[in-house]
Parts: sequence; C-alpha cells; structure tokens
Amino acid sequence: MTSATAKKRILTGDRPTGKMHLGHYVGSMKNRVRLQDEYQCHFIVADLHTLTTKPEREHIAQLSDNIREMVIDYLAVGIDPARSAIYLQSAMPEIYELNLIFEMMITVARLERVPSLKDMAAAAHMDEGMPFGLLGYPVLQAADILLPRAHLVPVGKDNESHIEVTREIARRFNYLYGEVFPIPDVLIGDVPSLIGTDGQGKMSKSLNNAIYLSDDAETVNQKVRGMYTDPNRVRADIPGKVEGNPVFIYHDAFNPNVDEVNDLKERYVQGKVGDVEVKRKLAAAINAFLEPIRERRAYYVQRPDEIMDVLREGTRLHRAEAEATMGLVREAMGMFRL
Ligand code: TRP
Repeated sequence: MTSATAKKRILTGDRPTGKMHLGHYVGSMKNRVRLQDEYQCHFIVADLHTLTTKPEREHIAQLSDNIREMVIDYLAVGIDPARSAIYLQSAMPEIYELNLIFEMMITVARLERVPSLKDMAAAAHMDEGMPFGLLGYPVLQAADILLPRAHLVPVGKDNESHIEVTREIARRFNYLYGEVFPIPDVLIGDVPSLIGTDGQGKMSKSLNNAIYLSDDAETVNQKVRGMYTDPNRVRADIPGKVEGNPVFIYHDAFNPNVDEVNDLKERYVQGKVGDVEVKRKLAAAINAFLEPIRERRAYYVQRPDEIMDVLREGTRLHRAEAEATMGLVREAMGMFRL
C-alpha cells in the first residue's frame, strides 16, 4: 500500500442544503467516487458557505439534518470513509485564518465579475445588496481547496469560475511568499450541468425539477412519467427530436444498455415508439442505478452514530493536513511569532 502522503490530493464537496440529486451525481460525485484510489480525497461539508446566503437562525437550525443527509448521500454513492476523509468545514479553525489571509490576495473588482455570485444574490432576494461574505464566497472556497494543498477539484460546471479564483489566489500567494500551494486543476463530470425533469433549467431543489438519490422507485416512476420531452410530439407516430430532449439526455447518462438507447432513439426520430415506452425504460434504468444506493442509504439511516463517527474521524484527519499547511504559510509569510 502506498503511503497517503505520496498521493496527490483532491478537495471538493458541497454545501449541506438538503438531499443530493442526479445532477450532483453526474456533475461531480461520480468522479469523486472513481478517483478515491488514485488520490487522497478530502470531502468538505461546507456549512459555513451556507451562511453566505442564509445566515438566519431558522436556516442554521436545519443544518444538522442537512449535514446528516449529505454524509449519508456521500456514503451511499460509494465514498469510502476508510480511504477518504469527509469533514465539517466549520470545525476547522484554520479555515477562518487562511480565509483572512487570502482576502488580501484578490481585488473586489475581480470578485464582482464572478458570474455565479450575482445569480446567488438574485436567487436569495438580497434587497440590501451583496453581503461582504457572499462576495467572499470564492475566497473561502479557495481556502478550503488550498488548506490541504489540493491538486484537483472535481465539481459541477457552476463552480468552474470559483476554481479560477482559487488558481489566481494560489498564484498570487506563491508570487508574494514562495511556492507553498499547487495550482489546482478543475475536473467537470461527463454531464457538466444536468437539465431538470421540467426541461426548463438545470436540475435543482429550488426549481422542483430534481430526482433525488433518496427517491423510492414509485417516486422515480412518477417523476419520469411527468418529464418534459419533445413538446411537438402529441402522438407516437410523429417523428420526434432526440437532441436536447431531457428523456434522452437521461437515457445517455443513466442507461448502461447502449443498444436499447440507440434503438429507442432510432424509432423515436421515425415516429415508431411512444413516449410511454421511452419513459418506462428510462425509469427502469434510473431505478436500477439507484437501487444499490438506496440499500446503502437504508443501512446508514439506521446508524446515526456511525455517520457522526465518519464525520469526526474525517475532520480529525483533515485537521492534521490543515495544521501542517498553516505552519508553511506562516513561515513563508514571515509572520511575527509570540
Ligand atoms: N461551492 C460549492 C457548492 O456549490 C461548495 C464548496 C465549498 C466547495 N467549498 C468547496 C466545492 C471546495 C469544492 C471545493 O456547493
């Protein structure tokens, strides 16, 4: 067995906003599960980031449930706590410290150009304007990524602009104080941004167009039956459109039976298959994909102590890396020591 320190590191994760869905899976979770042997992986439960748009007590009160659900989803898709660390952001004192130092490494004007921040501010209806902390969202994320000196960040497409900020901050720090940080690469999944079941926007909880990893078979059947397809196709004998059609996007992403998918596509464009059959086969494929995930979920739902142990142990492991990096940071900067 190679020692953990010989491997390159991955740092990635999510905000604990609720249950995870198929979009999270194809956008980044699949890569995370796949790369656990090749890299030393650290997965963040980014609870501090949720404060940037939802600082109210009522939202904080939901965090403990959301954190548990998120860790269960991670374990259920195959993140292995024996190989990878899952840790709680707010329990890491070093993150607040590195965040402050990184605030000096980037301009306000640069952060104002990060596209996702405007979207987040708009979605959160911030009547009084952009909070300082939300503008600093990508800076805090850079601190997350660089604290374990990560080399690779598997995320969904929406996070790409944040990783660019991380790279700039790492370069700036290294320029001022010497080579402490690797310049991390971003890795986007095969389906960078999965469309929702409504065909209108990307899959997200707030748009109510998501299929969750925790949905049971009947819920999946129902959601797939109600999916948006080619709107011009009012009858099964009208030739349909495959490109951009959510039902076929999902077939490509979740149905491993390529022959079946190709056959359905061919018949669809010829007007020789009904939407009902296409959707029935899609629901079956998604359910087959979700079944082992559901089984592992059921195991962990019964064992809340085990979930907390995973999080505590991951946080302890991560903390060791964080302390080492902060030593290097203070040394490189030549900060006065008491
Ligand atoms: N910004 C991520 C999200 O959209 C969450 C996150 C916080 C993150 N810190 C990170 C992702 C570090 C990758 C690396 O939910």
